[in-house]
Amino acid sequence: MKPGLDLSSIVVLTGAGISAESGISTFRDAGGLWEGHRIEEVATVEAFERDPMLVWKFYSRRRINAARAAPNLAHEALVEFAAENPGVMSLITQNVDGLHQRADGREVLAPVCMHGSLHQSRCTHCGSTYFDDFSYFDDEGNYAPGQTNLCDLSQRSSPEYLHHYKLEYAKFLPLSPCCRRPLRPHIVWFGETPLHLPRIDTLLKKAKIFLSIGTSGVVYPAAGFIQVAKAMGARTVCINKEEIPQAADIDEFIQGSATLKVREFLSSLGSRNG
Ligand code: APR
Repeated sequence: MKPGLDLSSIVVLTGAGISAESGISTFRDAGGLWEGHRIEEVATVEAFERDPMLVWKFYSRRRINAARAAPNLAHEALVEFAAENPGVMSLITQNVDGLHQRADGREVLAPVCMHGSLHQSRCTHCGSTYFDDFSYFDDEGNYAPGQTNLCDLSQRSSPEYLHHYKLEYAKFLPLSPCCRRPLRPHIVWFGETPLHLPRIDTLLKKAKIFLSIGTSGVVYPAAGFIQVAKAMGARTVCINKEEIPQAADIDEFIQGSATLKVREFLSSLGSRNG
């Protein structure tokens, strides 16, 4: 590494691999399957139109699993770095599990959640979003609305929080309070456009270091961010368990587990800064 590294703007992109050691299985490591269904069969608009109950069972399970998990050393290392170096780090995440936010009690590193959030739902008619951390179905797929506590205290006390006892249901599925139309998870499904792309574009353009953590680099547009950042002059670093397809655009590939390598890399930055 050359001395004189510009640390003025570090843009981090995270994927499912950063949450793997918290016990949340990644998409590709799980073989892309859930209960015999291809993930694409439960994470598309068509799937929701065809079988909304199946989709809500899938997302109820994901809410329950995320609530049972805890942030790990990698989530924490990012927050510590951001707290010690105010204004330097920005975080873009493809993850919907909320673990970045839960690692961040002081709110020093608000992530740009480009694929939405498990703890939000949205009206299929007008697009209004709500805080909603109910698992409408239990582990076995039985109808059993229960609070998962994925929403924090301030979200639970906000007017946008959905109290399930106030909700109307149709065929056991929740309806939006605004239009009384089906509520859907606030998740970017396959074939949908990710959220916050203009903001992400601005971040990529100002990145001096672009750090990709735990993402397989196969789902676009996120998979193209390394190339964009590199073309805009950033030094590109990738921490992942296995190689990813963007090898040609990666200046430094660090193979290993996120809980070990993220902290190591971030602490090395101080000594590399000439
Ligand atoms: N530390 C570092 N990397 C890890 C770890 C770990 N402990 N465990 C797994 N990985 C790596 C895997 O080797 C893999 O390359 O993390 C990557 C996870 O890849 P994916 O499962 O494809 O997850 P991700 O890249 O986030 O998927 C992108 O695809 O399914 C859609 O919308 C969904 O946001 C998701 C998107």
